[in-house]
Amino acid sequence: MHNGSPARHSHAIYPGSFDPPTNGHLDVIARSAAIFPTVTVAVVVNPQKRSPLFTLDEREEMLRRCTSDYPNVRVDHFRGLLADFVTRSDADVIVKGLRVVSDFENEMAFAHMNRALSDVDTMFLMSDSAYSFVSSSLIKEVYLQGGDIAKYVPDVVLEYMHNKRQAHGRI
Ligand code: PNS
Repeated sequence: MHNGSPARHSHAIYPGSFDPPTNGHLDVIARSAAIFPTVTVAVVVNPQKRSPLFTLDEREEMLRRCTSDYPNVRVDHFRGLLADFVTRSDADVIVKGLRVVSDFENEMAFAHMNRALSDVDTMFLMSDSAYSFVSSSLIKEVYLQGGDIAKYVPDVVLEYMHNKRQAHGRI
């Protein structure tokens, strides 16, 4: 329990599947890096309910390449509970992006549970309105159907998506 004295948030964890990272994710990372001295982008090893298109190594590599301009951002991964990773990392806060009101419903329960498990608060950044409809799953679906996704993902990610399609004949 916090004793009421001001706490300095020094280490934020930004968790996600990042399958793949989008410009919406990158916007949240850039804004978090301007607020918190250290930001760890934490890639969940096995996203819930689906197998990822990109391997853990690929997702981490894409994120490292996209965030190389931010000296206070690092990329890591975790298995199991986010709350355990937060505790192990000695982090002060979890950061999440909120795109639309429906995101909030799930996120509120996650935030309560993570706080109950690790005593760490979740802080939300409103996604830039330019990315309010952008999600990793929509990006994969549009790309699969031949749509142009260049505006919504970093160039590095586009390159990985092209390579994935060439290697597998599909994504
Ligand atoms: O990018 P996503 O898929 O929306 O990220 C979801 C993620 C990884 C943040 C969430 O599924 C998560 O925290 N998974 C770890 C397992 C866990 O801690 N579950 C309980 C959440 S209260």
